[in-house]
Amino acid sequence: MAKLLYAFSCSIDGFVAGPGGDMSWLTPHLAPDPAVDDLVPRIGALLVGRRTFDGDDPHRGGPGEGKAFGGGWEGPQIVLTHRPARPVPGVSFFGDLASGVAAAKAAAGQKYVNVLGADVARQCLEAGVLDEVLALPVPVFLGCGVRVFDRVGPPVRLEAVGPFWYRVVS
Ligand SMILES: NC(=O)c1ccc[n+]([C@@H]2O[C@H](COP(=O)([O-])OP(=O)(O)OC[C@H]3O[C@@H](n4cnc5c(N)ncnc54)[C@H](OP(=O)(O)O)[C@@H]3O)[C@@H](O)[C@H]2O)c1
Repeated sequence: MAKLLYAFSCSIDGFVAGPGGDMSWLTPHLAPDPAVDDLVPRIGALLVGRRTFDGDDPHRGGPGEGKAFGGGWEGPQIVLTHRPARPVPGVSFFGDLASGVAAAKAAAGQKYVNVLGADVARQCLEAGVLDEVLALPVPVFLGCGVRVFDRVGPPVRLEAVGPFWYRVVS
């Protein structure tokens, strides 16, 4: 059964995007990364929030623009949205978390579902369906923007399974 993984690049002060969803801060740091090279072939499907799907792209202006992991990955994408969207090959749209997660897991087979989008990741955590978290820290402070997790609640315990890779315990 597929596991849900929230893998994200983040600033050292805990943001995945700048104000208004700006991702240009990440562009100068895009470089071959063994952690990403290890992760990408283990991803079977993406579960994507609509703001991520429609949003800024750190690969903007380059050959990887508009492609998952800058063109390093291809496969089924499940996008959560409340609004109509134009059809895109390989992309399915779902209007609620439970059916989106079920579809993404079915599409991923034995591989990971990688969650893209902090809001969707938070909902997965709160619904108890988020299995693992992988942080890919970037040497920058952003100061404000979209947080890794924007939530109020008790601490969530994590168990390390690798460098910056954690299993959600409770
Ligand atoms: N640093 C990284 O590695 C990384 C990775 C991915 C994304 N990002 C950035 O993170 C930002 C996006 O994150 P975000 O937290 O703002 O938004 P998000 O999770 O990408 O998308 C949130 C939107 O998805 C839709 N949605 C969420 N849950 C839903 C549900 N249960 N049912 C139906 N629709 C649902 C809603 O859109 P509607 O109601 O409008 O349909 C909601 O406003 C972007 O700037 C993106 O570029 C960074």
